[in-house]
Amino acid sequence: MNYPNVAILGAGTIGMSWAVLFAATGRNVSVYDPSLEAQGRVITLAENASKTLAALGWNHAGDVSKLVFTNDPIDAVSGADFIQESVPEQLDIKHALYAQIETYLKADVIIGSSTSGLKLSQMQAGFKNPGRFILAHPFNTPHLIPLVELMDNNQTEPGVLQAASDFYESIGKVCVRLNKEIPGHIANRLQAAIWRETIHLAMEGVASVGDIDKAVSFGPGLRWAAMGPNTLLHLGGGEGGIRAFCEHLGGPFQSWWDDLGTPQITPEVVDALETGVNAALKNTSMTKLAQKRDALLLKYILAARECKMSL
Ligand SMILES: NC(=O)c1ccc[n+]([C@@H]2O[C@H](COP(=O)([O-])OP(=O)(O)OC[C@H]3O[C@@H](n4cnc5c(N)ncnc54)[C@H](O)[C@@H]3O)[C@@H](O)[C@H]2O)c1
Repeated sequence: MNYPNVAILGAGTIGMSWAVLFAATGRNVSVYDPSLEAQGRVITLAENASKTLAALGWNHAGDVSKLVFTNDPIDAVSGADFIQESVPEQLDIKHALYAQIETYLKADVIIGSSTSGLKLSQMQAGFKNPGRFILAHPFNTPHLIPLVELMDNNQTEPGVLQAASDFYESIGKVCVRLNKEIPGHIANRLQAAIWRETIHLAMEGVASVGDIDKAVSFGPGLRWAAMGPNTLLHLGGGEGGIRAFCEHLGGPFQSWWDDLGTPQITPEVVDALETGVNAALKNTSMTKLAQKRDALLLKYILAARECKMSL
């Protein structure tokens, strides 16, 4: 097994999900988080997610003996082959932690930061030698959603990003690479673009929040889960592919782009979204909603794996 010893720095929403995934694959996972509640949270998630992780094929799903907890980051990283950092999204916190651990790292360790919004170059400044440090941004929740956005730069040692990518893919992740720094990386920018227009449509009274969500999940969203928008429109262009699509429908798309909204998240917008979501969900509890989402996601991920295998 490659990277048998993994360290988790920060076990909140994202770190605990990474921790249970790494443990489910049979790795020894050392978890550092200053919060007294972290250990209980991680163990509960490991137990709750065990069926899902077993369905994904991980033999150690729910095996909490693979998880050890420490309140000392140096303890956590000493002997670690791979480190996933998911501490709060504040540069000063990340820098202080990097400075604390750097001397104790194995020479060939890889450190991936889960950051959603900080730049790789900003974070690298926390290390004397950032050669083994990369950006490795998961999409919530990491134990289920495959995507990891990766980035290195000219301060990263050659081979580190590829080794990290190979490792993540060996545990079921799908990696994409950022070639330049941009706020929100790729996936969150795309998510932001769609969400912005859903708000615009709702505030313009074009449709209810519930119907706008259905229009995504039962229409283009289903297709996007199968293939990305460019590939789909390539298919949509028939024999002529994406070029034919642009020639035939580029004009209308351009006019829709020109008409897209640019809403702000004002108190009025928040009220309208909350009212709209509550009306659509008819008091479904958060737990039930999350269970339904995760059950569907699991079925989809398994189906997508099976489909790819038969291609
Ligand atoms: N929440 C998301 O949807 C999401 C998605 C992808 C990536 N991320 C990124 O993951 C990272 C963590 O985000 P989160 O949502 O899990 O935050 P969170 O607040 O849920 O968890 C952060 C954890 O870090 C702990 N912590 C605080 N100070 C610490 C320190 N000095 N050292 C170690 N741990 C410390 C906290 O106790 C907490 O458990 C951020 O960089 C964020 O951008 C978040």
